Amino acid sequence: MEQVTYNGLTFEPYILREQIDKRIKEIAATITADCEGKRPLFICVLNGAFSFASDLFRSVDFDAEISFIRLKSYSGMGSTGVVKEVVGLSEDIKGRTVIVIEDIVDTGKTIKHLLETLSEKEPAELKVATLLFKPEALEVDVKPDYVGFNIPSKFIVGFGLDIDGLARNLNDIYILKGND
Ligand code: IMP
Ligand code: MG
Repeated sequence: MEQVTYNGLTFEPYILREQIDKRIKEIAATITADCEGKRPLFICVLNGAFSFASDLFRSVDFDAEISFIRLKSYSGMGSTGVVKEVVGLSEDIKGRTVIVIEDIVDTGKTIKHLLETLSEKEPAELKVATLLFKPEALEVDVKPDYVGFNIPSKFIVGFGLDIDGLARNLNDIYILKGND
């Protein structure tokens, strides 16, 4: 497979679509075992998680609902550290099992802020499913419940993840090429 270039940066294939598909099915099976009968509400964090959410949601085998929210904390390749407001949640989550679907947990600040915001609405259970997790980059105290792949602290694109809005349409996950 070919490497790709965005903003003058070169990325090489890292996790292939086949592996992604397989892993999503495994996570879906675990969630199915954990949440069957609870009619959970999945909350997809736009934009990055849309590909993962679409595949994960269609792979769970029980009654479930999905909703979408937005919140952005990233510009280009550096985390701004400024976590913006949560927009778009219209459902009442009080007393419900909620599974937040994220594309990636990097410093963890975004997900932590989101979990705090959602906790105030008193869900019965609040879980996180993330496709990618950078354990070495974590700066806050959060632990995703369902993780697709643990990855090094390097920039990733594809399968929903972007660099300045581009590369989301890549079918595989690519990693920034070069020295650590
Ligand atoms: P955190 O708050 O540092 O955990 O950052 C989380 C958000 O930053 C994610 O939801 C992504 O939108 C973005 N992000 C973090 N790492 C990457 C990456 O390697 N590629 C693309 N986006 C990333
Ligand atoms: Mg995101």
